[in-house]
Amino acid sequence: MILEIEYINNLTSDIWEMKLNGDFPFNNVQAGQFINIRIKDSYDHLLRRPISIAEANTDMQSLTIVFRVVGQGTKWLSQRQKGDKLDVMGPLGVGFPLPDYNRKVLIVGGGVGVPPLYQLAVDVSKYTKNVHILLGFRNARECFWQEKFADKGELVIATEDGSRGVRGFVTDALKAYKSYWDYVYACGPRPMLKALKQYFQGQDVKGYVSLEERMACGVGACYGCVCSSEDRGENFRICKEGPVFPWGEVDI
Ligand SMILES: Cc1cc2nc3c(=O)[nH]c(=O)nc-3n(C[C@H](O)[C@H](O)[C@H](O)COP(=O)(O)OP(=O)(O)OC[C@H]3O[C@@H](n4cnc5c(N)ncnc54)[C@H](O)[C@@H]3O)c2cc1C
Ligand code: FES
Repeated sequence: MILEIEYINNLTSDIWEMKLNGDFPFNNVQAGQFINIRIKDSYDHLLRRPISIAEANTDMQSLTIVFRVVGQGTKWLSQRQKGDKLDVMGPLGVGFPLPDYNRKVLIVGGGVGVPPLYQLAVDVSKYTKNVHILLGFRNARECFWQEKFADKGELVIATEDGSRGVRGFVTDALKAYKSYWDYVYACGPRPMLKALKQYFQGQDVKGYVSLEERMACGVGACYGCVCSSEDRGENFRICKEGPVFPWGEVDI
C-alpha cells in the first residue's frame, strides 16, 4: 500500500520521526508490529527495510515511525520529504499481548528499541494505572519522546554517561525500584534483553521481548530471520512468529 509522508522531523543527530497517512488498517495494529518499507527502485535496495510502528492513531488515520540512520536504506528514508509517497507492507508480525486489568507493568526500552513501546504504553495505560517506564539511552543528546512517555506512566531515564537521569544501563536503574511487576515488556539491544531476562529469572513475572534480525522477505517465506528456542531445539521466524516473544521461549 502507498502512504504519504505528512511530516518528517529530526529528533537527534541520527534519529528521525516520520508521520504517514493513507489507506492502512490502522485499527488492526498491535503494538510491536512493524511495516516493511520499500527503499527506492534500484536492485541495490531491492529489499524492504523493517521499521516498527511507534504509534498508530486511528482518529488521525496516521502512523508514526522513528528510525536511526545506519546505512543506505535508512539514509534514503531520512531524505524523503513531506508529500512524498512510500510503498509499505503491514502491519506485519506478532506484537505484544496486553496485560490483564490492574496489573503492575514495567516497560523497558533502549535506543531505537524505544519507539514501538510508545504504542504499547498507550494501549497498556487503558488496562492499568500501574505502569513504570524505564528508557535507556547513551547520553542526554540521544534521548527522545520523554514527554510522550511521561504521559503514559511513571518514567525513569537512564543514560550511560549520567548526563540525564540515572547513570548506567537500564538494569542499574532497575535496582533502585522498590517494586515488583506482573508483566515486563522490553525492546532494545540484545545485551539489554539478556540482562533483563537474567535479572528476573526465577521471579513470577510474565516477560515479553521484541527481537530484531536482518530481514529479507519480512513475511515468513525465506527463513532469513530465524532465532532459536531457549533449548535451541526449534527455530522461529522473527518476522512471522515474532518479533515479540515470551522471553522464556527464545534464546536471547
Ligand atoms: C522487526 C524490526 C523492527 C525494527 N524497527 C526499527 C525501528 O523502529 N527503528 C529503527 O531505527 N530500526 C528498526 N529496525 C532496524 C532497521 O530495520 C535497520 O536499521 C535497517 O533495516 C537498516 O537498513 P539500512 O539500509 O539503513 O542499513 P544496511 O546498509 O542494511 O545496514 C547497516 C548496518 O546496520 C546493520 N543492521 C541492519 N539491519 C539490522 C537489524 N535488523 N538488526 C541489527 N543490525 C542491523 C547492518 O548489519 C549494518 O551493519 C527494525 C528491525 C526489525 C527486524
Ligand atoms: S525475513 Fe523472510 S522469513 Fe523472515
